[in-house]
Amino acid sequence: MNKKKIKIKRSFKILLIILITILIVFSINKNKDNHNISVEKVKDYKYILVNKKNKLSSYFIPDNLVEVNSCSLGSFYLEEETANAYEQMCLDSINDGLNISIRSAYRSYDEQKELYNTYLKLYGKSYVDKYVARPGHSEHQTGLAIDLESLECDIFRNSKEYLWIRENAHNYGFIIRYQKGKEKITGYGAEEWHIRYVGKNAAEYIYKNNITFEEYYELFLK
Ligand code: DAL
Ligand code: ZN
Repeated sequence: MNKKKIKIKRSFKILLIILITILIVFSINKNKDNHNISVEKVKDYKYILVNKKNKLSSYFIPDNLVEVNSCSLGSFYLEEETANAYEQMCLDSINDGLNISIRSAYRSYDEQKELYNTYLKLYGKSYVDKYVARPGHSEHQTGLAIDLESLECDIFRNSKEYLWIRENAHNYGFIIRYQKGKEKITGYGAEEWHIRYVGKNAAEYIYKNNITFEEYYELFLK
């Protein structure tokens, strides 16, 4: 073999090694950014962190889903503690003259997949990734999240129901999960209607300190 051929062969080998190294580093980083949650290892279910980086398996279904009995017009399911907290909050809000209802609650992996794909077709990728979680990445699959609506006003953020929720939800263990100005931390645009059950202690701390659940998780739950 002449010298030129040997040189080409060597360069090719080096290039191949570089390419393989890049691929390995890329896949390690990708996995780091997309952590699969082992639900059975989560100590307290209400503190489970599901977001763009933390993914539930497609098989995961909460084992204590119950149908919500109050403040909902359709048939909606939540995990039991969340459903009880919601029903208490609902009764108190009715006593304060409000008309809150549910637009969405528990969603299975497949329902989330369908929702994501429908919105993707309708509005395109940049919109959908700002407002809709990919399958496995939605808190709705945990049964701990609710999308609220006001039966008095179509735009929830303009309703008196929203004002009441903003001031009172933490007393029942709920937080408004995706707040304006926190998009870089949560990964989503503001969603005033999406509340998440985290229990009274966490909700009160998050509300009083105006932080996200991601920040609370870093401080106390990691
Ligand atoms: N809209 C929220 C991010 C979800 O789809 O879970
Ligand atoms: Zn939601």
